Amino acid sequence: MPITLYDDGSHKCIAFPDLVTCEGFKDEATEGKSCDSVQANQFLIVNNEHAALIDPGGNLTYSRLFMGISQYVFPKNLDFVIASHQDPDIIASLNKWLVGTSCRVLVPELWKHFVPHVCTPGATRGRLHGIPDAGMDIEIGGAAFKAIPAHFLHSEGNFHFYDPVSKILFSGDVGTSGVPEEECGMPIADFEAHIPKMKGFHQRYMNSNRVCRYWANMVREMDVEMIVPQHGARIEGKENVAKFLDWFQGLECGVDLMTQENFKVPGQGAAKISVAA
Ligand SMILES: [Fe+2]
Ligand SMILES: [Fe+2]
Repeated sequence: MPITLYDDGSHKCIAFPDLVTCEGFKDEATEGKSCDSVQANQFLIVNNEHAALIDPGGNLTYSRLFMGISQYVFPKNLDFVIASHQDPDIIASLNKWLVGTSCRVLVPELWKHFVPHVCTPGATRGRLHGIPDAGMDIEIGGAAFKAIPAHFLHSEGNFHFYDPVSKILFSGDVGTSGVPEEECGMPIADFEAHIPKMKGFHQRYMNSNRVCRYWANMVREMDVEMIVPQHGARIEGKENVAKFLDWFQGLECGVDLMTQENFKVPGQGAAKISVAA
């Protein structure tokens, strides 16, 4: 079910937390209850008949997301498909959106010449625009929201999206948590209890404490009521947002935690795969 994060009549922010489909993948290997792909939230911002889709995902979400957004907009008229970064769970469905709608596509400038590799040759011509490293304003209808820098958190060229109308920060992989399906897209209840659900992911997928601090300093200057990540639950209310920024700016992660131990040629007893018997 889509979740309405904000609606004032002319401006809406909608989350789609449950579209990653597992049909055909439920087998013994996944114990019949989950698939081998990560849960992902997709987002639609609608303003006066105009709309932007943020991080629409890949083939696992396309059909249901296309149907889902049609409750709010005529999909053919979608103005923008926007990608925070280049990952498959972010933008692997790009070719389908180019064919199915008349959207323009915004991706980090750094990845502009890489993402066409998931498209039919020529499909992106004239429709693909780079978001410069410093970020930009994106106007839809009567509103403008901001692409704000989130480089190395985790992708090298990476943006989050701040909507000043709803005061929501769509934070890509930052704020990701591993929670049960029914909690995805929902507000967290207790920040301290939520930390263990975020910690391991951020330690491995975020680049370094230096960029965590820069990002937290930037976000503190903004008026944020809600941080909504691309995976898991959302962080709602100024108090929880402040707690998240404190936690994140103190986090050691990525290269901070790497040692020579992580860079050894695999020896005896290492993981192995071979042709099935
Ligand atoms: Fe990612
Ligand atoms: Fe992701």
